[in-house]
Amino acid sequence: MSPDFIRYLAAKKTVDDRALNRQVWEALEQALAERPEPLRVLELGAGIGTMIERTLTAGLWRRAEYTALDADAGLIAAARARLPAWAAAHGWESAVTDEGLRLCRHDRCVDVRFVVADCFNFVRGQAGCQPWDLLLAHAFLDLVDLPTALPLFLDVVRPGGLFYFTLTFDGITAFQPELDPAFETRLEAAYHGTMDERRVAGRPSGDSRSGRHLLAHLLRMPVTVLAAGPSDWLVWPQEGRYPADEAYFLHVIVDTVGHALTGHPAIEPERLAAWLAARHAQIERGELIYLAHQLDVLGRREG
Ligand SMILES: C[S@@+](CC[C@H](N)C(=O)[O-])C[C@H]1O[C@@H](n2cnc3c(N)ncnc32)[C@H](O)[C@@H]1O
Repeated sequence: MSPDFIRYLAAKKTVDDRALNRQVWEALEQALAERPEPLRVLELGAGIGTMIERTLTAGLWRRAEYTALDADAGLIAAARARLPAWAAAHGWESAVTDEGLRLCRHDRCVDVRFVVADCFNFVRGQAGCQPWDLLLAHAFLDLVDLPTALPLFLDVVRPGGLFYFTLTFDGITAFQPELDPAFETRLEAAYHGTMDERRVAGRPSGDSRSGRHLLAHLLRMPVTVLAAGPSDWLVWPQEGRYPADEAYFLHVIVDTVGHALTGHPAIEPERLAAWLAARHAQIERGELIYLAHQLDVLGRREG
């Protein structure tokens, strides 16, 4: 994984912090308050570990065994390197353990285990074990085929256990101010079309309306949805500047649209190039506004 993707995931953290749906987060806090600890937590597609930092900051639990899984060894290596530095800067003591790190502060202690694995292989290997009290997937479920993935993922959650699925993309990508509305309507449709047609290892993956599909699938499964709500990314300049590293985040988003649509039959290459240059220039001038619609869902497995 390139260092740029690591920087992108780090830059995304402040955008995600703003985006997470407060009502769904509070419902998670409430649901966790009654749970015996240590809590066994599994995060799928954990990237560089920013959700671990978020849960520690929020004090979601006193004792937890947190397994952070990602298919990308470079990202897991970045998480291993990043967490001790983050911990030291935020008053946590960290110690290296056989499988990861132990992070302690006052009466709180969390054991983090890092796993490099494909999530499908990992959950298949646990079929019938149901060891997890809480399953997390953040900015991840729009990358998988929900009808096949959800039953596999929920199968490893113990009956009565929770799942918290956040920032699942749901069908709106918008850039302001508008440059060429008719072209940008086509651009958005073509970009979303690439998500709908995407195949991973020859199999379907997520689609451009994964957020709403996630909720619809869950409502047909033996689970109780405890809370759900929007968690849109909204990045805008404040007095001509973007907070933290969010200008970098925006450059990557614009490039992602560019890469997805390069060679696309419905998008003229010269118009795409002009659009990309104009959007990058707007970021440099602190003018671009970016919106992506996403959904958060909290639920409990029944039976
Ligand atoms: C958009 S990133 C989000 C990372 C992290 N949750 C965050 O928000 O910072 C998606 C992550 O899923 C991981 N991923 C994709 N497919 C996977 C798979 N089949 N098994 C495990 N991880 C996977 C990628 O390596 C990447 O880290």
